[in-house]
Amino acid sequence: MKVFIAGGRGRVGSRLADSLEAKGYEVVPGGLEDGIDVLSGRGLAEALVGVDTIVNVLNTPRFDAAGAISFFEGSVGNLTAAGERAGVRHHIVLSIVGVGEGDASEIGYYLGKVAQERAVRTGSIPATIVRATQFQSYIPVLADQHTVDGKVLAPRSLIQPVELDEVVDLLAEAVTTPEPGSAVEIAGPDRFHLDDLFRATLAERGDEREVVTVDGPEPLEGMVPRGAYRKGMVRYPIAGIPTV
Ligand SMILES: NC(=O)c1ccc[n+]([C@@H]2O[C@H](COP(=O)([O-])OP(=O)(O)OC[C@H]3O[C@@H](n4cnc5c(N)ncnc54)[C@H](OP(=O)(O)O)[C@@H]3O)[C@@H](O)[C@H]2O)c1
Repeated sequence: MKVFIAGGRGRVGSRLADSLEAKGYEVVPGGLEDGIDVLSGRGLAEALVGVDTIVNVLNTPRFDAAGAISFFEGSVGNLTAAGERAGVRHHIVLSIVGVGEGDASEIGYYLGKVAQERAVRTGSIPATIVRATQFQSYIPVLADQHTVDGKVLAPRSLIQPVELDEVVDLLAEAVTTPEPGSAVEIAGPDRFHLDDLFRATLAERGDEREVVTVDGPEPLEGMVPRGAYRKGMVRYPIAGIPTV
């Protein structure tokens, strides 16, 4: 089976490529450095010849709503059009827990992910949406994104970070599924308050930034699973953080 990974050299894509190749799949990585631009469509027709499944783990640095929506919607549109012409049978997209419920609607990047999910659900290729919570390795970056004037501003919202390799395993399972499914979610084993998680993570790294607990605009439980989900086994690598 031949699998095209859109974003195949990124953080998730490169690990997924290794995992699928180890299982005997033929993998075609699709990123800018492979000469493929999912926004203009450059290189897509050639790359998709003989491909059965597209796994879409693309990302954009655009966090504003207009930029994120146009990237995520436009890339699904081009992948769907080129994929349909090439006879692709399954389109798998990696999304984020909470996006499906539309709770994250104030954040530009998440609006992009909402648009991405909608585009793949309504597209002509049967789709599976895999939603993951925040990757454990991403928490320090998330703290940086919450930093204003040297202080980390964190609502007391819930977060349930997952180990990236467990997400990669779930994506690989979706590739081997004979029938596309609708949506599946994955989260880590433990649920924390975001401000507690930031404090422990920064302290562990010797980072002296103060974490200030603030009221957030989003629902406090907006980014953890509320229905059925796969619970990862790998614990967050810092012990002693209060769980919820
Ligand atoms: N971080 C988290 O905690 C988290 C949690 C849940 C879900 N997710 C989702 O996981 C997905 C993957 O994230 P990641 O961290 O693996 O991203 P990443 O490391 O930034 O990789 C993104 C990939 O997209 C490719 N790309 C960007 N623009 C492109 C274009 N115009 N044409 C072709 N390729 C393009 C890049 O290719 P080049 O390298 O060639 O530029 C890169 O390989 C994202 O959709 C994100 O929403 C993340």
